[in-house]
Amino acid sequence: MNQAEPAEGSRVAGTNSCLIFCDKVQRVYPDGRVTALQEVSLKVHDGEHIAIMGPSGSGKSTLLNLLAGLDLPTAGEIYFEGVPMSNRGLRNQLRSQKIGFVFQSFNLLPTLTASENVQIPMFEGNLPAGARRKRAAELLELVGLGHRLNHLPTKLSGGERQRVAIARALSNEPRILLADEPTGNLDTASGEEILKLFEQLHAEKKMTLILVTHSPEIGERAKRLIRIRDGKIIEDRTRE
Ligand SMILES: Nc1ncnc2c1ncn2[C@@H]1O[C@H](COP(=O)(O)OP(=O)(O)OP(=O)(O)O)[C@@H](O)[C@H]1O
Ligand SMILES: [Mg+2]
Repeated sequence: MNQAEPAEGSRVAGTNSCLIFCDKVQRVYPDGRVTALQEVSLKVHDGEHIAIMGPSGSGKSTLLNLLAGLDLPTAGEIYFEGVPMSNRGLRNQLRSQKIGFVFQSFNLLPTLTASENVQIPMFEGNLPAGARRKRAAELLELVGLGHRLNHLPTKLSGGERQRVAIARALSNEPRILLADEPTGNLDTASGEEILKLFEQLHAEKKMTLILVTHSPEIGERAKRLIRIRDGKIIEDRTRE
C-alpha cells in the first residue's frame, strides 16, 4: 500500500536541501525531568555514512529515536526532506517505507518466531504471505540465521536476537538504516559480517547509514563521526 507523499505545501522553505534536518532539537523526559538533548542542530544528507558516539547516557538513543520519527522533540523541529516530522502521516510513511531501525534492546515480539518478526514491516505492503516468508528466510539467511527461522526470541541467544532485529530492519529495503549498537551483542566475527553487510548496502544501494556505537573501530569506519556528550554535539567531523 503506497501512502501519498506529504503535500508539497507542507514542506518548509529552506529545509529540503538535505534528507534530515534537526533544528535546535531538545528532548526533556518528564520522568525525572532529564534533559537528554539540548539544542541539537544537525543535517544528514542522502547517502551519508555516519557514526554517533558518546558516553553512556549522553543522549545517543534519544537522538536516533528522534531522527527516525519514533519520538518527538520537546522543542525544536526535525524535517525529513523538508517536511516536519511532527506530521504524523509522514512519520507513519517513514516507518513503513523508508526507515529501517535496529533498537538497542531489539524489541522483538516474544510470541512471534524469528521469521514472523522479520515479516512485521512487510504487513503494511501487499506482498502475499508466501513471498513474505521467502523474503524473511532470505534476510535471515543473510544475517547467518537461516537455521533459526521458526525459533521464538526466548530460544535465541542475545546475538541471534540482534541479528533478527537487523533482518527485520532491512525487510522493506529502507533508504535509511538507523541502528543503535547493532553489533553490541555480537562476537567479533559476526559483528564484522553485519558491518560488511551494512557497508555493502551503503555502497551498492546508496543506503544512508546512521550507527550508534561504543566502538572506536566502528566509529572510524564511518565517513562522518558525530560525538555527543551531555546531550550536546561536541564534535562533528567528516573524513576526507
Ligand atoms: N524514557 C525516559 N525517561 C526518563 N529519562 C530517560 C528516558 N530515556 C532515557 N532517559 C535518560 O536520558 C538520558 C539519555 O539517554 P539515552 O538512552 O539517549 O542515552 P545513550 O547515550 O543512548 O546511553 P547508552 O550508551 O547507555 O545507551 C539518560 O540520562 C537517561 O537516563
Ligand atoms: Mg543508548
